[in-house]
Amino acid sequence: MITHAITAGQLTEFAADVRAGLTKPVQKELPSKYLYDRIGSTLFEVISELPEYGLTRADERLLRRHAREIAARVPRPVSVAELGSGSGKKTRWILEALSGPQRTFYYPIEISPAALAEVERELGRMDSISIVGLEREYLDGLLEAAARRQPGGHLMVLFLGSTIGNFDRPQGLEFLRQVRQLLLPGDSLLLGTDLEKPVPQLLDAYDDPLGVTAAFNLNLLARVNRELDAGFNLRRFAHSARFNPEARSVEMHLRSIERQSVDIPRAEIQIEIAKDETIWTESSHKYAPDEVDAMAGQSGFCCDAQWIDREWPFAESLLIAE
Ligand code: TRP
Repeated sequence: MITHAITAGQLTEFAADVRAGLTKPVQKELPSKYLYDRIGSTLFEVISELPEYGLTRADERLLRRHAREIAARVPRPVSVAELGSGSGKKTRWILEALSGPQRTFYYPIEISPAALAEVERELGRMDSISIVGLEREYLDGLLEAAARRQPGGHLMVLFLGSTIGNFDRPQGLEFLRQVRQLLLPGDSLLLGTDLEKPVPQLLDAYDDPLGVTAAFNLNLLARVNRELDAGFNLRRFAHSARFNPEARSVEMHLRSIERQSVDIPRAEIQIEIAKDETIWTESSHKYAPDEVDAMAGQSGFCCDAQWIDREWPFAESLLIAE
């Protein structure tokens, strides 16, 4: 029988998360991790090529330009664990700079099997790099990578693409603390953060005129239709990106263009959505460079070095576990 490429256990979890998010009383929401199924991951790869979305290119430029300086600050032997590797494309430079005569283990941690397959295609042929893909949530995967460290070896964690910005500030700090607990003193965390920039530029980055970001966001409803037999009519929702000045974040929503009710049989709910009511899907927080320093200090790291891209303000910070 041909069926969805997901197991019953995951489906139940997805259904439970959808149910919990869409029955919230004040603001309906859907968890952003579900944006990245096969179609979503492919659309995100396209977003990262858009002229308006400079984030991924800035991240990659910094990694390419400073790979040797970064690698020089990391003791060997080293294993590398990457939280949310995506295709792994921008990780090549770091892995290249880190790899020496010894074999370097690289653990991409991804909930998307499609992304892990892409990493294998992208980096599988690099000499002296052994790729061990971990299809896990971030902290579970990191626990696994830490358990596999070589005696006396060093662990370097990569958390790129400003994914930390998808947490709000207190959650981001808490996440750094949890990462720190899985590390040993002297281990490193390379953290990518998107920096504050003019609001119109941010809004263009998250609502591009070609509509790719809109498609990426709407795909979440399409996924609920595909996997939970829901009846969302995608033409009755519009993508919306807003800047929240208090949180200093761009919020992504799906706005209902009319009053409607939607049946989601496999989540066992039927929801009512008012005209102009929104479903919040993700927020992307923007940082000041010295804020990263402060967060490091509050989570058991010290900031060893920082590299900033001037073309698209973005920072790569090398944090060392204390
Ligand atoms: N983590 C990316 C970011 O915050 C993801 C992203 C880009 C995104 N565009 C989006 C998420 C639109 C939801 C909607 O930049």
